[in-house]
Amino acid sequence: MSYPLNLLDASIMGDEANMYETFRQLREHDPVCLVEHPDFEPFWAITRHDDIKAISQNNTEFLNNPRTVLIQKEFEQALRDKFGTRNGLETLIHMDNPKHRKLRNVTRDWFKPGPIEKLGPDMSRIARQYVDKMESMGGECDFVKDIALLYPLRVIMSIIGVAPEEEGMMLKLTQELFGGQDPTQSRGEGVDDGLNVLMDFFNYFTAVVEDRKKNPNQDLASVLANALVDGEPMAQLDQISYFIITATAGHDTTSATISGGMKALLEHPEQMRKLRENPALSRQAAREMIRWVSPVRHMMRTATKDVVLQGKTIRAGESLCLWYPSANRDAEAIENPDVFDIERDNRNQLAFGFGGHMCLGQHLAVLEVELFFRELLPRLAHMELAADPEWVQAIFVGGLKSMPVRYSFASSGVAAAS
Ligand code: HEM
Repeated sequence: MSYPLNLLDASIMGDEANMYETFRQLREHDPVCLVEHPDFEPFWAITRHDDIKAISQNNTEFLNNPRTVLIQKEFEQALRDKFGTRNGLETLIHMDNPKHRKLRNVTRDWFKPGPIEKLGPDMSRIARQYVDKMESMGGECDFVKDIALLYPLRVIMSIIGVAPEEEGMMLKLTQELFGGQDPTQSRGEGVDDGLNVLMDFFNYFTAVVEDRKKNPNQDLASVLANALVDGEPMAQLDQISYFIITATAGHDTTSATISGGMKALLEHPEQMRKLRENPALSRQAAREMIRWVSPVRHMMRTATKDVVLQGKTIRAGESLCLWYPSANRDAEAIENPDVFDIERDNRNQLAFGFGGHMCLGQHLAVLEVELFFRELLPRLAHMELAADPEWVQAIFVGGLKSMPVRYSFASSGVAAAS
C-alpha cells in the first residue's frame, strides 16, 4: 500500500480504518512527505499535530492563497479559465490579510459565543422536531439520511435565511460540491459538472442578495447583502462566495459529527451511559465527537519562503496540506488519542484548524451537536446498528453516508438500555 498516495484516494479516505492507518504510518515514518500524482499538483503532506498547529498560526509565512484544498489539475485549470481564480470562489478560506481580516470582521460578531448561545432555544426546538421525527418513524431509520443530515441543514439555513422548501436543493448542491469524488453524490465526472454546481450556487445566492438589498431583515443574508468593506459594498464574487462557505461549511461538517458521534456512542456503551447519567457533560462530549470525527480532512497553505520542517526543505511557492484527523490522533500531543472519552480536555485538538483562519462557526457547531444529544438521549431507550454504516468517498469533508439503526424510545414504554 502506498501511504502517501492513499491521501488522494477517496475510497481509502472514505474508510475510517484505512484512513487512520495511513495517517499513523505517515506520522511515524514520513511526517512531512512530498506527494506526487499525475492528476494533482505536488504537495507536502503534514501529519503531525505540532507541525500543523505551527503552520496554521503563522499566517505570513504560510498563505491560504492560491491553493486551499486538493483539487485535480484539470478542474483547477477549468476554474481558472472560468472565474480567473484557482479555486473558483473567493471565500474566507481563499484569502489572506489584510483582506481576510476585513471580510471575516463582517460576520465576526454574529458567530461569537454570546450571540450563538442566544440561538440555543431555536436550535433545541429544531433538534426536538428531528427527535420527534425519529420517534414517529417507529423504531427504524437511516440515522444519517433521515436525521443527521437534516437537522444541521435546517439550523444553518434558518440562520442564513433560506426558506425551508429550498433546503433540499441546498443539501444536494453541498453534497455535489464536497462529495465530488463519490459517484453516488457527484453530479457527473466531467469538469463541466463541477462548474455547473458552482454556477447553481452563484445564481441562487445572487437572487438572495438582490432580495435582501430590497427587503433587509434580521437574518445573516441581510448582513451579507448589505455589508460595507472599507465603506464600499462587497464585491459580488466575495459576497456570493461568503454565502457559499457559510451555507456549505455550516452543515455537512456538523452532520458528519452528529452521525459519527452517534456511532461512537453506540460503539462505546460506557460513554453513552456516562452521558445519559450526566447531561452536563454534553458540551464536553460534543467537543470529543468533533475531535473523534474530524470531518474536515485537510486544508492547504502555500509557503512564502524556504522553510525546513522535519529535515525536509520546502521551497517558497510550494504547497502544504494539513491533515486534521491525523493531528487529532497524534499521541505526541493528545493523550490516548485512539480512546473515545467524553470527559477529555479537548483544548489541544485541531478539528477546527488554528490561527487566523480557525473555524468561524466553531461555537455554533459545538452548541448544535450538544443540543441535539441533549434532546435525543433522555428519550432514547435503546439503539443499535441495523446494518453496516457506509462512508462518503471524499478527501476533503468526510463522514458517514448511511447508518441504518434500530431503536426504541423511553416514551414507548421500553426499558432503558445503553
Ligand atoms: C464540526 C463542525 C465543523 C468543523 C470540524 C469545522 C472545521 C473547519 C476548519 C478545519 C476550517 C479551516 C481552519 C483553518 O484553515 O485553520 C474551518 C473554517 C471555516 N468554517 Fe468551519 N467547521 C465546522 C463547522 C462550521 C460551521 C457550523 C460553520 C458555520 C457557518 C463554519 C464556517 C466556517 C467558515 C466560514 C470558515 C472559514 C474561516 C476563515 O477562513 O477565516 N464551520 N472550519
